[in-house]
Amino acid sequence: MTNDAILKKVKADFDLSTNALREMVGAFHDEMRLGLESQVSSLKMLPTFVDRASGDERGRFLALDLGGTNFRVLQVQLGSGGQVKVEHVGKYIIPRAVMRGTGEQLFNFIAQSIDTFLVDSRIGYDEKRDLGFTFSFPMKQTDIVNGILINWTKDFSASGVVGKNVTKLLIAALKRQGIDSVEIAALANDTVGTMVARSYQDQDCDVGIIFGTGTNACYREPSTETIVNIEWGNFNKLPLNRYDVKHDKASGNPGKQVMEKMISGMYLGGLVQLVLSDLIQTRLMFKNRRAKFSKGVFTTTRMSQVESDTSRKLTKVEDYLDSIGIIDSALAERALLQRICELVSRRAMRISAAAMSAVVTWMDPELKDNHTVAIDGTLYERYPGFKKTILATLTQLHGKDAGKIKLVHTKDGSGIGVAVVAAVAAHA
Ligand code: BGC
Repeated sequence: MTNDAILKKVKADFDLSTNALREMVGAFHDEMRLGLESQVSSLKMLPTFVDRASGDERGRFLALDLGGTNFRVLQVQLGSGGQVKVEHVGKYIIPRAVMRGTGEQLFNFIAQSIDTFLVDSRIGYDEKRDLGFTFSFPMKQTDIVNGILINWTKDFSASGVVGKNVTKLLIAALKRQGIDSVEIAALANDTVGTMVARSYQDQDCDVGIIFGTGTNACYREPSTETIVNIEWGNFNKLPLNRYDVKHDKASGNPGKQVMEKMISGMYLGGLVQLVLSDLIQTRLMFKNRRAKFSKGVFTTTRMSQVESDTSRKLTKVEDYLDSIGIIDSALAERALLQRICELVSRRAMRISAAAMSAVVTWMDPELKDNHTVAIDGTLYERYPGFKKTILATLTQLHGKDAGKIKLVHTKDGSGIGVAVVAAVAAHA
């Protein structure tokens, strides 16, 4: 089989026509409706008890950010006229054993990190601080401070936390650590933090999205005028190919987070790895070499490096292949690898655009108003062509009306936003 024929085969698996995306938008609306009516739906549509900020919030707040690769603690100062200053940031890598250990170990780790942060930043324990807790998992909130974990996603699986109030677990851990200067004023999902951070200075902002380790979105529901956390990573009305099916089965949460597995940083590399393994096994790629792409070898970061190699001979790709024992690769093989990565990432970006379109047209079916979509996450920030492909896809879906949808990278949004949410809550 020629490389062109192989590519055609992979393309057939990963291509999503604009019509298929239109169908997806319709199915997404159906699931949103069912979710809002508390009927069976892959979209949880969780109320958040948060509204947009007014821009008048003031003061110094702490923010915790749990749910990505790092656990972060921030001190944020909110000044006049919507000004935000991040004064201190502490990053703490959560050991895998802690992510997957017991809830007590996880929350102890969080409290110890807060302690380290208070010492290192010289904030100390004398002044009382209100804290906003960004908890980036599906949770059922009962008010602005309390929320019960529905299920873990991404790499987390700490025992004894599902079904529990995570704020209470944090308070107990702070107590064990002897910290009594910190008061939890608000709890929010990272998408909500991101949207609030942008809306602090932009009243058109009505959607918040994360494209990172995981993916999700929130929006302002017109019927209730509140922010709803969609938990869109779990959307499951999408055509799956044989690689998606295999990928899902081999994951830690089969049947769950189906769309997340087609889009986000934690999963894309694994999907490409399955395609490569298949092509190697059927001797269509890297013939006569003992190449092996075992699980976990091909990461999303690697994909993005492969795609960003613009050299004529794809020398970075060559170096990479050399490093894993595939020496003397032919240029055509390297180009094929690059194209496979592109096909998988392009599908991710097109699905992302369709999901975004579904959320905006749910609020405004004819795109009469301007909508700012606040976006954060490493994938959006760093993956080559992410924003460009989303914009092109939105134009395919909406023609010139796509101009009504403005994508704004809201860096550190989840941390800053939750500080604003804490400010609103603390002064309410
Ligand atoms: C979680 C969401 C979160 C998203 C981005 C998903 O796995 O379920 O709550 O917003 O990741 O961090």
